[in-house]
Amino acid sequence: MIEKNFIFHMPVSKKALSGSVAWRSPSNIALIKYWGKTDPQIPKNASISFTLSNCHSNTRLDFSPKATPSDQYDFQVFLDGKKAPDFEPKIAAFFKRVDTYLPFLKTYSFDIKTENSFPHSSGIASSASGMSALSLCLMSLQKLIDPSISEEDFFKKASFLARLGSGSAARSLTGPLVVWGEHPDIHGSSDLYGTAFTNLVHANFRDYQDTILLVDKGVKQVSSTIGHKLMLGHPFAKARFEQAQNNLSRMVEILKSGNLEDFIDVVEKEALSLHAMMMTSDPYFVLMKPNTLEIIEKIWAFRRSSGSHICFTLDAGANVHVLYPLKDKDLVEAFIASDLAPFCENNQFIQDQVGMGASQL
Ligand code: PMV
Repeated sequence: MIEKNFIFHMPVSKKALSGSVAWRSPSNIALIKYWGKTDPQIPKNASISFTLSNCHSNTRLDFSPKATPSDQYDFQVFLDGKKAPDFEPKIAAFFKRVDTYLPFLKTYSFDIKTENSFPHSSGIASSASGMSALSLCLMSLQKLIDPSISEEDFFKKASFLARLGSGSAARSLTGPLVVWGEHPDIHGSSDLYGTAFTNLVHANFRDYQDTILLVDKGVKQVSSTIGHKLMLGHPFAKARFEQAQNNLSRMVEILKSGNLEDFIDVVEKEALSLHAMMMTSDPYFVLMKPNTLEIIEKIWAFRRSSGSHICFTLDAGANVHVLYPLKDKDLVEAFIASDLAPFCENNQFIQDQVGMGASQL
C-alpha cells in the first residue's frame, strides 16, 4: 500500500451528515523502541509493542455540517468534560497533515471529547491512545459517508492517520502485539501503518502483565518530538537503527520459542539503549530519575533471588514498566507493593496487562 491509496474520494452527490461516533483505544508499550524518524513520521527502524488493556482513551467525535463554508478547520476539544484549548494546536496540525486523506474535514464542525482511564498528568503519554481513538472516529465518519471500505482497510487507514498524529499511535489499534516499520522478517510490515503481529507467539507471552510505576508525574523536560530530531546527526544513530532491526529479528524468534531469559535480555537492552541515545544526544539530556535507577536495581536483585521472570522497560520518561508473565503475578505484585511502590510518587502505580486493541463505543 502506498500513500496515495489512502486518499478518500468523496461521493459526488453526498449530503453532509450530522451525528456522533466514539472509540476506545488502548495505550501501548514498545518492546523494541522507535526513536528517530524522517518526515512525515517515517520511522528509522521497525518497532514492536504490547497493546495495553486498562490504560486507554475514550474519544467521542460529534460532527455536523458547517453553517458557513470556510477554509479553516472548525473544532473544539474537551478533556474530561472541560474545554481544553491547549490541545487545539496539536489537533489543528494533525488535521492539516491528514487533510489530503480526509478531504471532508473542512466541511464539518467537530466537538472532540476525550477521557483517559489513567490519571491526568500521571506522566503517561496519552498521545498514542488519543490519536488512535480520534483517527478511528474520523474513519467511522468516512465510513458513514461511504460505507464501501473493508474492515481491513478501515484499520489500516486508521493506523496510517494515527501515525501522522503521533508515531507510536500507529501501534495502538489492534493487539496483542503490533509491529510498525518495515522489517525483512515480518511479512506485511510497513513504515506507513502498524500491523498486528501474526507470526507464531508462544503461550508464555499471552496475558503478559505490565505494572506501570509512576516515578515522576511531572511534564518531561524534553519532548519526544525533540528527542526524535536529535537522532538525526547523532553519532551513534546508524548503529542504533541497526541494533533495533537486529533486536527485532531476535524478538521474532523469542516470541515463537517462549524463551523468557532471552526476552528479558532484549527488552532491557532496548530500554537502556533508548535512554543511552538521549544521554549521548547533542544537547544531551536524562529522563530517568534517581528512583528509576533504584527500581531497576531492585528488579535485578529480586529476579536473582526469586527466580521469577520480572523485567523492566522504559518509555521516554522516568516511569518504569514492570513486565512479567501471568504465572509470576502473585509473587511480583507482592514485591511491587512492598519494595517498589515506595519509590513512586505518592506510592502510585497502575496495574495493566496485554490487551486486544480498540473497540467502538
Ligand atoms: O510516538 P512518539 O513520537 O511519542 O514516540 C514515542 C517513542 C517511544 O515511546 C520512546 C518508543 C516507542 O516506540 O513507543
